[in-house]
Amino acid sequence: MLEELEATYAQALDELKDVRDSAALKEWERRYLGKKGAITLAARSTGQLPPEARADFGKRVNTIKNELSAAFAEREEAVRQHELARMLEEGEIDVTLPGRPVALGGLHPSTQTLRRIAAIWAEMGFQVYSSPDVETDDYNFTLLNIPPHHPARDMWDTFHTTTPGVLLRTHTSPGQIRAMHELGAGGTQPVRVILPGMCYRYEQISARSEIQFNQVEGLAVGRNIRLTDLKGTIAEFARRLFGPEKRLRFRGSYFPFTEPSMEVDVDCILCGGKGCPVCKYTGWLEIAGCGMVHPVVLENGGYDPTEWSGFAFGLGPERITMQMHGIQDIRYFWANDLRFLEQF
Ligand code: PHE
Repeated sequence: MLEELEATYAQALDELKDVRDSAALKEWERRYLGKKGAITLAARSTGQLPPEARADFGKRVNTIKNELSAAFAEREEAVRQHELARMLEEGEIDVTLPGRPVALGGLHPSTQTLRRIAAIWAEMGFQVYSSPDVETDDYNFTLLNIPPHHPARDMWDTFHTTTPGVLLRTHTSPGQIRAMHELGAGGTQPVRVILPGMCYRYEQISARSEIQFNQVEGLAVGRNIRLTDLKGTIAEFARRLFGPEKRLRFRGSYFPFTEPSMEVDVDCILCGGKGCPVCKYTGWLEIAGCGMVHPVVLENGGYDPTEWSGFAFGLGPERITMQMHGIQDIRYFWANDLRFLEQF
């Protein structure tokens, strides 16, 4: 058996010398080193030898295997170089071919809208203030005049964490309290900020509602801020974002942290108010909730509500984006489908 092995070894080396291309290389490897290759089979037959012969034979098979593997690797590299050289020689490289286009990334449609919104508020003197996505129950509810067990909590279906009292913010309004605390300097300084960010709600996902979405909160606190300031400011913002021809409508509403509270509608961007599926044939589109900051909330922010007042609003950038582009289904926003995203 040893003789046979040596003969196979010699033959393998001999044949390898004549291997010129990768197809032949593969075939050679299959024949000698593959699962059913001659050397592999020889190694496997060691057990059939008389016990005293096994050690020597086994050692020799291993050496041969290593030698052949090394020789194979060397040949493989030589063949590769050879094939490359031939390709360069034979195939002409056409330097006049146009280059392949580089795939460029783009901004997410929500990001584009968020930036437009932030730019408009910046022109009107509102700075961006960031507050955390993970909030406490206190900031998200209690300090906003929504005590534990208050029925108004049902307005926001909440994702709770496993830590009691810690949740994902259901709106950007908790940032109002944080901004008042940090920028208000104990109720002595005016505040004028917007707070953009992701909000989370434990809801059935559908064409009209997602479990996550952006909001842009706005807050102005000062002396002598009145409802007319709120209406004028929102109207100016809408003029700059949607154009001067669009009409606005303020509807009375309810939020625990504002008094009075309103919702703001704008002429449907798609149909201009005539009525279409996107506005559900009302001609109007709701773009924001807003109101005068509730005295309790001002107090929780460190202000004396007999001297200070303010307004707040919450805008929905995805809604606005859907309107601007006629997007009928909010689920596209976070589905990461490039066919959707590449359109913006
Ligand atoms: N936080 C409210 C919501 O998510 C919107 C809002 C913000 C209303 C600020 C009034 C003032 O529904």
